[in-house]
Amino acid sequence: MEKKNIDWANLGFGYVQTDKRFVSNYKDGAWDEGALISDANVVISECAGVLQYSQSCFEGMKAYTTEDGHIVTFRPDLNAQRMEDSCRRLEMPVFPQDRFVDAVCQTVAANEAYVPPYGSGATLYIRPYMFGSDAVIGVSPATEYQFRVFVTQVGPYFKGGVKPLTIRVSDYDRAAPHGTGHIKAGLNYAMSLYPIMEAHRQGFDENLYLDPATRTKVEETGGANFLFVTKDNKVVTPKSGSILPSITRRSLVAVARDYLGLEVEEREVYLEEVKDFAECGLCGTAAVISPVGRINDHGKEICFPSGMEKMGPVIQKLYDTLTGIQMGRIQAPEGWIKVIK
Ligand code: PLP
Ligand code: COI
Repeated sequence: MEKKNIDWANLGFGYVQTDKRFVSNYKDGAWDEGALISDANVVISECAGVLQYSQSCFEGMKAYTTEDGHIVTFRPDLNAQRMEDSCRRLEMPVFPQDRFVDAVCQTVAANEAYVPPYGSGATLYIRPYMFGSDAVIGVSPATEYQFRVFVTQVGPYFKGGVKPLTIRVSDYDRAAPHGTGHIKAGLNYAMSLYPIMEAHRQGFDENLYLDPATRTKVEETGGANFLFVTKDNKVVTPKSGSILPSITRRSLVAVARDYLGLEVEEREVYLEEVKDFAECGLCGTAAVISPVGRINDHGKEICFPSGMEKMGPVIQKLYDTLTGIQMGRIQAPEGWIKVIK
């Protein structure tokens, strides 16, 4: 398979149309067989549930070319489970988990020419999503839905690659205590647009959201969970019912414990204690692990000893091990790697 002529090393994190996408429609209580199609446009009612009441959810995954030339994806069963959880919370029909994984694999395989080569620094981002497609005017769930998967080749999520980020403590809340912060609903991202643009206008890369009930505990950013490292090399990650259960974070906890022999604490993390950590990183599919160098809390700066030039040593080891597993350089735990081709 000949690859597309793409400048892989200089890709940003943006949408570029690829050849095929998977589409399945839900009508009269059942999903159809689904198919790979070429048309990248969606045609729906002007009164569609997604357009009026934001009934939509999505997932984010990546495909990688491994050192030995296979195309693989990482723990797709966990994305399938999380999408099911999102659908249930949003009164949407579940697209069966085995079919979800199959649709992802079909879409990646059909766009093989866009899967970045091993060592290029780029990856293929996979976006499964679902939305209410028929008309609703009273506030109620749609009766028809579309499940789709597209892929797009990407570089680093944050400009500057792995340069440490500067983030600010946000005055806005990302999630309500018993709301939708734990699922991947489109509406969680719509409400984050004003805070993220304001953060950018003020020169920050991202927002650190606090727990909405007490505003004393660290939750997550708009698109990634937090990992901290203590001065004695313990990995600490916030536990909360209103953050997205990041698959990257859950994988890194296992990597820290089982590959690096580090102690890991999953617990509530108070903003007050953040100044005592040695390293900080943001983890997610798009972010991988992006180091944080500085947190601005209303003018008060928390500067991590790892500095603004490079990742701290523990975050670097976590990064190298995780990406080593994803790219086939390091033996993966059973069931983590799904070979597509
Ligand atoms: N938190 C939020 C709000 C996200 O949007 C994401 C991205 O998916 C994550 C965390 C990281 O989750 P994952 O590692 O499963 O990609
Ligand atoms: C991902 O990491 O896949 C996400 O969906 C986060 C998004 C902010 C790009």
